[in-house]
Amino acid sequence: MNIYLVMLLRIVHILAGSLWVGGAVAYFGFVGPSVKASGPAGGHFMQNFIERRKYPIYMTIASALTVLAGVPLYLFASGGLQLSWITSGPGVVFSIGSVVAIVVFFLGTLMIAPRAQRMGALGKEIGMAGGPPSPAQAAELQQLDREMARIELADFVLLMIATLTMATARYWFI
Ligand code: HEM
Repeated sequence: MNIYLVMLLRIVHILAGSLWVGGAVAYFGFVGPSVKASGPAGGHFMQNFIERRKYPIYMTIASALTVLAGVPLYLFASGGLQLSWITSGPGVVFSIGSVVAIVVFFLGTLMIAPRAQRMGALGKEIGMAGGPPSPAQAAELQQLDREMARIELADFVLLMIATLTMATARYWFI
C-alpha cells in the first residue's frame, strides 16, 4: 500500500479513535453523573446535549471513522490476512483489539444511540408539556436509564480493553 495512504489512514484512525474514547470518558465520567445529580434540570440539559449538540451523531461518526480506517490498516499490517502475522504476538493482540472495538461500535450504534435519541425525544415531550413527567413517561425514563447504565458500563470497559490492546499490540513479542 502507498505509504502516504497508510499515513493518512493512521491519522484518521488515531484521531477518530482519540475523539471516540475521549467522548466516551467525558460522558461516562462527567456528563452522565452530573445529569443524574441535577434532577429535572438534567432532562433539559440532556435534550440540548442530544438533540441540539447531537452527541450521538458525533460518537457515531468518530467510531465509524475509526473502524473504517482500521480495516484497511489491518489488511495492510497483516500482509493481506497472512496467518503468520495473525498468529504472531502483535497479530493476536491487534486482532483482539480490532474485534473488541468493532463490538463496541455496534453496542454504541445499535443499543446506545437509539436509547439516547428516545431519552432526548422524551425530554422534549416533557419540556413542551410544561409539567412534571406523566407516570408513563417517568417509568419509561427510569427503564431507559437502567438499560443505559448497564450497556454503557460494558461499552466503557470494552473500549478501555480495545485502547490498551491497540496501544501495546506492536510490542507483544513474548
Ligand atoms: C477504540 C478504538 C480504537 C483505538 C483507540 C485505536 C487506536 C490505535 C492506535 C493508537 C494505533 C497505533 C498503534 C501503533 O502504531 O503501535 C492503532 C493501530 C492499529 N489499529 Fe487501531 N484503534 C481502535 C480500533 C481499531 C479497529 C476497529 C481496527 C480494525 C478494524 C483497528 C486496527 C488497527 C491496526 C491494524 C493498527 C496497526 C496499524 C499499523 O501498523 O500501521 N483499530 N490503533
